[in-house]
Amino acid sequence: MTLTEPTTPDSPTTTPPPVPLVPSVLAQGLTVPKGFGDQSLLSPRPDAIRLLGGIPDPSALPLAELREALGEVWDAGGAAASLQYSGSHGFEGLRGWIAEREGVDPRRILITNGGMHGLSLTVQALVERGAVVAIDNPAYPLFLRTLELVGARTLPVPVEPDGLDVEHLARRLADGERIAAVYTVPDFHNPTQGTLSAAKRAALVELAARYGFVVIADDPYRELRFAGTDQGRRVFFDSEHVVHVNTFTKTLGPGLRLGWLVLPEHLVDVVLRLRNRQDSHSSTFVQTLVQHLLVTRPGWFDTTLGRARELYRHRAQLLVAELRTQLPGRFEVTEPEGGFFLWPRLVDDSVDTAALHKRASAEGIDYQQGEFFITGPGTDSARRLRLAYGDRTDAELRTAVGRLARAFG
Ligand SMILES: Cc1ncc(COP(=O)(O)O)c(C=O)c1O
Repeated sequence: MTLTEPTTPDSPTTTPPPVPLVPSVLAQGLTVPKGFGDQSLLSPRPDAIRLLGGIPDPSALPLAELREALGEVWDAGGAAASLQYSGSHGFEGLRGWIAEREGVDPRRILITNGGMHGLSLTVQALVERGAVVAIDNPAYPLFLRTLELVGARTLPVPVEPDGLDVEHLARRLADGERIAAVYTVPDFHNPTQGTLSAAKRAALVELAARYGFVVIADDPYRELRFAGTDQGRRVFFDSEHVVHVNTFTKTLGPGLRLGWLVLPEHLVDVVLRLRNRQDSHSSTFVQTLVQHLLVTRPGWFDTTLGRARELYRHRAQLLVAELRTQLPGRFEVTEPEGGFFLWPRLVDDSVDTAALHKRASAEGIDYQQGEFFITGPGTDSARRLRLAYGDRTDAELRTAVGRLARAFG
């Protein structure tokens, strides 16, 4: 028996054909943006003014303070730790600060990588594959994308000026419809700008307990109230059936990717276990800096918010005034009480909204067409525009409305 391999030096080496990699059924089923988020719909003009997203103004974000915080943390010897692993719940100090502000036990706070992360975690933890989720109609479209993770079906529920039509939902439930969750944006709704009334909050929580579903309260704009009356959050925090999803995106900056969940105590461990299998924890570095600012500068967050609210109040009022003066009689407009969105309704039902959008784009103004937020029948959203004013200057807002006026012809 020979130990040498038989060699055939003259025969060509044959490499087997590559076996293609096939993405998972889940990944293949994820949709590409249509309408909302579709870059091809943007104005080709280089000087186009975009009233597109819920984006905070750079001047309202803590640019200088973060730099200071970095220096202070470094000087105090915290640099090395800020680049190490940390716990899955998030920093104790940060959770404690949030818990005190929310008025809940710190054990209920889970730090996340922003609002979308909190939404996906909640959906994956609480919605069975193929289950029904009641959603705002119209709705924040990116939430629908999180539902693709579990193949959920949707039950659209109309949104009124004072938020989700809870009676409509109650009727559907009484008729036998069963849902795993309801998703709504309670404060300064995206896109409809309204706020869920205190009475509806209470009614929704009662329904959730009676029928055994979770309320996913997505509240990124809550801190940006500049008019009107707060409708309360206690009723949500006191319920075993509500997951409150929040983020520092609109107040300290989306690039931080830092947010939090307020979970009912019985859900903390299950959501944490899920999170452990995804990203382990939010950035230690980012938490170090944000916690430092919040904890070592008492009152700083509220001062920052105060300035931001003033800025957004001013821009909201200016945009409303410009629409009324430059486009008199064209829109029904309600002054926003907070947040980043104006949701004007076209008065003339014969206006072709797609053609208007095309002409506006050619004039150099980008906005979201109301139809992109529709999740079912029974809404007038197709007759509306979503105008986002958060990151646009006075001059840009005036010019943008002038361009919209030209688009009307
Ligand atoms: C209603 C709503 N939920 C969630 C988010 C996402 O927040 P984040 O950027 O923190 O993921 C946004 C951002 O625009 C939003 O408008």
